[in-house]
Amino acid sequence: MNENGQALQARALAQLDSIWDPAKLEEWRVEFIGRKGAVNALFEQINSISKEERGAFGKQANEVKQALETAFTARQGAVKQRALSEALEAEPLDVTLPGRRPQRGRLHPTTQTLREMYKIFGEMGFQVYRTRQVETDLMNFQLLNIPPYHPARDNWSTFYVADTDERVVLRTHTSPGQVRVMREMYPGPIRAILPGLCYRYEQISSRYEIQFNQLEGLAVGHNITFGDLKGTLTEFARRMFGERPVRFFADHFPFTEPSAQMDVKCIICEGAGCALCKYTGWLEILGGGMVHPVVLRNGGYDPDEWSGFAFGMGPERITMLKHGITDIRYFWGNDLRFLEQF
Ligand code: DAH
Repeated sequence: MNENGQALQARALAQLDSIWDPAKLEEWRVEFIGRKGAVNALFEQINSISKEERGAFGKQANEVKQALETAFTARQGAVKQRALSEALEAEPLDVTLPGRRPQRGRLHPTTQTLREMYKIFGEMGFQVYRTRQVETDLMNFQLLNIPPYHPARDNWSTFYVADTDERVVLRTHTSPGQVRVMREMYPGPIRAILPGLCYRYEQISSRYEIQFNQLEGLAVGHNITFGDLKGTLTEFARRMFGERPVRFFADHFPFTEPSAQMDVKCIICEGAGCALCKYTGWLEILGGGMVHPVVLRNGGYDPDEWSGFAFGMGPERITMLKHGITDIRYFWGNDLRFLEQF
């Protein structure tokens, strides 16, 4: 064995034995087994060795190299282990300390309102039915008795997604779900509510958002009357807003005939007049009516045999009225100071 090799190995291992500092360990690695380190220098001596001794020299040099590398890896593990034990001893874990209270999320105010609605209508026999947010023009308008270019379209500022053979839109209301439920349920009777996001191409302001929820209701049967609509919605208002007068009056929607609007007595001023009800004493809650014969037929139901009522409301708007929220933009603002109040 080459003297240098053996001496080198002994010197390196002796040094390594007293190293506990990671920075020192790195210095050691560079000095001995690094690219420009002592072991590689040893290999370079091979050119000055006689041919006969070269083989043995190379073999021994390789053994030195391996011995140092193995020792280095072992030391690295030991250094890490000691650093960890020291850290644990320096900052002991006090298992008697009280725990940190986990931060709990809560339901968005609109979700809370929607769930209240599911409960009220669920107890009246309505099932939740979800339909798509991306709709065809046919579903969103035409089958609801709103033909292309009809002036009623102005009521629904529309986001157009694609203008292919069949126009595709983001639904402007949940009403297209009526046709989808009917087509799925035919020829059975229907009591369904259809919640979900709707989209309108609006200038965003305290009163208008480009995305908002609606809750649609639909009942279809052999003997459904306007009285059923009034009874259902009056009961809904009583459970949502407490015992207070409601009123219905004529309105117009292309997909209902006759159509109506329902108001409740203002929950702030009880009718005396205030800013919330704009001094009318009443709050507008929803629109509804008897399903138009054209719409029934588009859903597959013969209007000579079947009748139905439908209604639509805005859960954000109802949440605003219940809590006196004056700006609809809070609902999508993600401001915890707002959300944490619910
Ligand atoms: N789709 C209407 C809107 O977005 C709301 C509505 C009114 C729905 C009357 C109905 C209804 O089902 O009968 O303005």
